[in-house]
Amino acid sequence: MSITHPSFKASDGKPVSEVKFPKEGPPPITVKNLTMAYGTFVLMKDINFTVNHGDIFIIMGGSGSGKSTLLRHMLGLIEPAKGEVLYGDFNFTKAEPEQREEMLRQFGVLYQGGALWSSMTLAENVGLPLGEFTNLSPSEIRDVAALKLALVGLKGFEGYYPSQISGGMQKRAGLARAIALDPEILFFDEPSAGLDPISSRLLDDLILELRDNLGATVVVVTHELASIFAIGSNSVFLDAESKTVIANGDPKDLLKNCKDHRVRAFLTRGDEDKKDEKSARDHG
Ligand SMILES: Nc1ncnc2c1ncn2[C@@H]1O[C@H](COP(=O)(O)OP(=O)(O)OP(=O)(O)O)[C@@H](O)[C@H]1O
Ligand SMILES: [Mg+2]
Repeated sequence: MSITHPSFKASDGKPVSEVKFPKEGPPPITVKNLTMAYGTFVLMKDINFTVNHGDIFIIMGGSGSGKSTLLRHMLGLIEPAKGEVLYGDFNFTKAEPEQREEMLRQFGVLYQGGALWSSMTLAENVGLPLGEFTNLSPSEIRDVAALKLALVGLKGFEGYYPSQISGGMQKRAGLARAIALDPEILFFDEPSAGLDPISSRLLDDLILELRDNLGATVVVVTHELASIFAIGSNSVFLDAESKTVIANGDPKDLLKNCKDHRVRAFLTRGDEDKKDEKSARDHG
């Protein structure tokens, strides 16, 4: 099924869905020697990783380790203290504001707590980026917004206001807004936070579907273990204490093979630590 509206064009006339990141090209995202700081407070040093085509790349780590901050660096909302972020061959960190803006249009973002505008209907919320970045007519915008809402299972809810739908539905509407411009790369910060396990599972399925249907690359910040294992194909683990990345790879492989006790404790919800303590007590 094609999800791109036939007349869906960026304001310069190029189709928005034009592939900027060819599959045979360099990795869509490279983070190189990144140091993140708020003023003189250094949060993380020497972060290095690449995100490959079609990855669902998980940024994980404890609360306050800097996951959202890393995402903000990747989106140019915070400048690196050191290092750079590249999209394909494009050095995002060194680029001019207009070039960055152009690149950001290829991205869809769902921020942590990703609020919808409460005074706008779901269709108006989803239509917002279309009005801003395309030359579609109002009726075309309504059509595309309805299509995107249908993709996330919200057909028939176009005229509802955010307060009239559940939290899980709001997350999905946020997702519909993030995919409004047919992005090449999607960024989600804690998409399933606050959802019950079933809704959370459905959202994971939806993220997998969007990756497959849009051919997009997805970056997800999350500490929901079920999601990490269900959708993650690659990951980085941020450790607040050592202030750097202490594991990188498919989360399922990390669970099997990573020896670092901090990563193991996280991926097993501390169960292994508890077992170790118990066996020390039993034998001690
Ligand atoms: N605007 C800011 N100015 C100064 N310090 C900040 C700012 N935003 C975040 N921090 C600090 O940076 C650290 C990392 O915050 P961040 O929000 O990136 O963590 P996180 O891993 O996303 O946490 P959570 O899982 O709770 O969302 C925290 O210690 C926080 O206090
Ligand atoms: Mg966060």
